[in-house]
Amino acid sequence: MLQAEDLVKRFKSRTGLITAVDRISLAVEGGEVLAFLGPNGAGKTTTIKMVAGLIRPDGGRVLLDGLDVTGRPARAAASLGAVLEGSRNLYWRLTALENLIYWGTLRRLSPRQARLRAGELLRLVDLEDRQHNSVQTLSRGMQQKLALCQALMHRPRLLLLDEPTLGLDFASAEAIKATVRQLARDGVAILLTTHQMDVAQELADRVAIIRTGRLVLTGLTAEVLESYSRPVWRILTRGPLGPEQVAAVRGLGWPLEQAGPEDLLVTTPDGDAQAIYRLLELLRPTPIRLVERHQADLAEVFQQVVSGTGEAS
Ligand SMILES: Nc1ncnc2c1ncn2[C@@H]1O[C@H](COP(=O)(O)OP(=O)(O)OP(=O)(O)O)[C@@H](O)[C@H]1O
Ligand SMILES: [Mg+2]
Repeated sequence: MLQAEDLVKRFKSRTGLITAVDRISLAVEGGEVLAFLGPNGAGKTTTIKMVAGLIRPDGGRVLLDGLDVTGRPARAAASLGAVLEGSRNLYWRLTALENLIYWGTLRRLSPRQARLRAGELLRLVDLEDRQHNSVQTLSRGMQQKLALCQALMHRPRLLLLDEPTLGLDFASAEAIKATVRQLARDGVAILLTTHQMDVAQELADRVAIIRTGRLVLTGLTAEVLESYSRPVWRILTRGPLGPEQVAAVRGLGWPLEQAGPEDLLVTTPDGDAQAIYRLLELLRPTPIRLVERHQADLAEVFQQVVSGTGEAS
């Protein structure tokens, strides 16, 4: 659905030209959520604006369904919806419903179609009871949900979301996440930026991490998480381990930490799938309460990749 190829964007700054986006390529298929992550100033919003045709890149191109939309917002708008950072394209004096209908007709829906679609979306994000309130009287979270509805009015096949859950309360954030999942199931391609790693981990099929305008890691979320997980095992027993048991485990020569009389942390050799069995054998006959392998979360991966200590691919 989306193919962004070798995007480059430079800005003038006091010290000369800065390269905000440095040959970034991204692809998102229908039905897929790509989390586009990076620290402040990494170039995420600039990239998203290029994808939406709102900024003309200094290099590279953007294809939507094979159609070149580089620097052409009107062309891009036909197949994409965007909720961009900070700017919500809402008219403050119009009501929620009026905003959606107005936007829908701009996107070539008939007034009747626009009204139907607006009702459907307001129900989806649970804003029906506020549909006749002017935007200026809605809370920030409600405005955010309305901005999402607006982006979805013309059923775009690509959705760009720049920090969609920022500042939302728990229920609203859950509603937005559920909506994103539903849209992906319906075949919409979704490009999502967020600083909330838990949100990214929950929603994204794939991740792309950038740092100072460059891609430093891309991959399937599950594979990325697996590759950053280490063979560190936590073993909780029911009843304390005897000194001879602990000595036997030490005898294996693996890094070991005894966090408590019933609590062991052992690092088994990389790639040795049988190691844990050897270890557990030594703990016999003490009952075991829990065996847990370290699982990296996206926050850990992000921290490692962005601080430059992780592997890049
Ligand atoms: N219009 C502009 N003029 C000059 N520099 C800009 C402009 N827009 C962005 N930049 C610079 O480009 C770089 C990337 O900014 P961008 O907004 O894309 O980052 P971001 O990844 O979205 O960050 P954040 O997480 O803070 O939203 C920054 O150094 C920023 O100062
Ligand atoms: Mg940004």
